[in-house]
Amino acid sequence: MMERMLGRVLVIVPTYNERENLPMIAERLRKAVPEAHLLIADDNSPDGTGAVADELAADDDQIHVLHRPGKQGLGAAYIAGFRWGLQEGYDVLVEMDADGSHQPEELPKLLEALGDGADLAIGSRWVPGGKVVNWPTSREFLSRGANVYTRVMLGVPVRDATAGFRAYRAATLEKIDLSDVESQGYCFQVDLTLRTVRDGLRIAEVPITFVDRTTGSSKMNRAIVAEALWRVTVWGVSGMPQRLRRPR
Ligand code: GDD
Ligand code: MN
Repeated sequence: MMERMLGRVLVIVPTYNERENLPMIAERLRKAVPEAHLLIADDNSPDGTGAVADELAADDDQIHVLHRPGKQGLGAAYIAGFRWGLQEGYDVLVEMDADGSHQPEELPKLLEALGDGADLAIGSRWVPGGKVVNWPTSREFLSRGANVYTRVMLGVPVRDATAGFRAYRAATLEKIDLSDVESQGYCFQVDLTLRTVRDGLRIAEVPITFVDRTTGSSKMNRAIVAEALWRVTVWGVSGMPQRLRRPR
């Protein structure tokens, strides 16, 4: 019902080597939020995820596939997915991982936050009620550290700026201007959070339980961490004169 009030919902799931996870996540999403459409944005995964996606789409007219030429990063896959969704006239665009870490059963909570007036709803691990299950201590440390650094450098009032389970109103994406986004890896999430804050839009953080994947492997690597560290530092330093003039 909430979905009907918000209009048409598109859930974008980027995939790179998620053959074993994709049917599971598609089924769970279709059951949890039957009105929503699914767009799989696959980077020509060597494991054949693209063909699995095509099979799912052939059996279900609410499932769509965007085949991309090769691995260009999470940010590029989402930008392409957003452009497709905006062009097709969806009203809400959702980001969700393929590996089950983001539970489709929790998506209604994010949509409710949009219904309550948020321009962006973030499924957050680091607000009261948010949880992480089965993450190695090192990864939890990295995520918490990245978020502290982001808050200090950028002054964004968000506890989980790197979170990848989000719902955007189409109007939000239109306003924040995706044309000059350069972030390729996971810092794409911080990038869009910062743009949303700077445009004066409303962000709601909704507690979620993030469950580490049991199948396949994370695509996180040192280059992704380095890009994030570099970009957040540059954004922070270049934004500082403004922050000093207009302290929040
Ligand atoms: N198309 C495409 N291209 N998909 C990708 C790429 C890429 O280059 N890299 C990763 N993905 C997909 C994966 O297949 C998965 O569906 C999703 O993006 C998340 O990737 P994971 O490798 O599972 O990420 P994670 O579990 O390590 O990281 C999670 O936490 C990060 C930091 O907190 C994600 O939720 C990230 O979005 C989040 O920033
Ligand atoms: Mn994952």
